[in-house]
Amino acid sequence: MKTVCRPATDDVLSLAARIIRGGGLVAFPTETVYGLGADALNEQAVQRIYRVKGRPPDNPLIVHVSSADAARRICDFNDTAGLLAEAFWPGPLTLILPRKPNMPAMVSAGLPTVAVRMPSHPAALRLLETCGTPVAAPSANLSGRPSPTEASHVLDDLDGLIPLIIDGGPCDVGLESTVLDLTERDPVVLRPGAVTPEQVARLCGRCFVAGGAMRPLGTGETAPSPGMLHRHYAPVGKMTLFKGHPERVASAIRKVYDRAANACILALVNQPQLYGNRRTLYIGPDPDQAAQQLYHALRMLDDNGIERILCEAPPDEGVGLAVLNRLLRASAFDLVDTDKD
Ligand code: TXA
Ligand code: MG
Repeated sequence: MKTVCRPATDDVLSLAARIIRGGGLVAFPTETVYGLGADALNEQAVQRIYRVKGRPPDNPLIVHVSSADAARRICDFNDTAGLLAEAFWPGPLTLILPRKPNMPAMVSAGLPTVAVRMPSHPAALRLLETCGTPVAAPSANLSGRPSPTEASHVLDDLDGLIPLIIDGGPCDVGLESTVLDLTERDPVVLRPGAVTPEQVARLCGRCFVAGGAMRPLGTGETAPSPGMLHRHYAPVGKMTLFKGHPERVASAIRKVYDRAANACILALVNQPQLYGNRRTLYIGPDPDQAAQQLYHALRMLDDNGIERILCEAPPDEGVGLAVLNRLLRASAFDLVDTDKD
């Protein structure tokens, strides 16, 4: 199959909608990462997503809608959901709610719940409106690769496997949406993202972060989200995170770097005096910038065959929590606390 990559003109959006309504797949930009979309009401199309990505069949998908009313048609949208949608939709917040029977079980990998989100990227919203159907869409990468934040990343992974990629430029947020479980008494963050637990708590009174989001699952502990069970993206090189006082972090990183072959440092703030002429990639001093740059940086490390990655851990506040979450998983929770060790 030939894959074409086109900007989001009216013609391209109506072609995309025709492909999706016909049971095919289209990659499209969202404000978080690129999604691989199919008609959520068409089981065969949904099955195609799993096949193309090589996604484990027990990992459920997120359903994208163009309004809160469209979300109400597919799940039991409670008052808390209404409050959160009012505050954060369209935007990077996915809500887990009881699934209505019209939504195929396969979208949710058989779970009684469904994940739903209204994205804010204009091309995504126009595509959803043109389709007139809810669109199931995981990130548009091959399973096990970093989520794509540019059309070229999608092409690298899915060239020849899908007919169309809508190019909307680099994604604003750069990390996947916050996944928030609303089926318990209090909201629980299953996957941190740009909408923070603090923001949710301000609106709902309380908000928890699931055990297992920021540490490895204990033996016998059940994963609140199937996505947590699966081996996450890991770079080709072995990654270690370092946290603590910036001077101690830099000194520990320099020591390991100088003994390693083919290493690269992933740093937050550009302070060349810290690392001298050692190979360093900067992802940005503020968490929003680090979020936006992270997956591009990880793809670059892989493309350059880096074997050892030494990474400054971002503070776990605000969006930093999401950046830290992805880095912890990429490093298989290999974290050195330089204030303690
Ligand atoms: O930003 C995003 O969320 C992007 C864009 C394309 O919208 N999508 C995305 O989808 O990241 P995906 O499939 O890569 O991640 C979906 C996550 C998985 O960790 C999955 O386990 C979780 O959401 N999930 C989906 N449905 C769920 C459910 N019913 N209960 C618990 N977790 C669920
Ligand atoms: Mg994904």
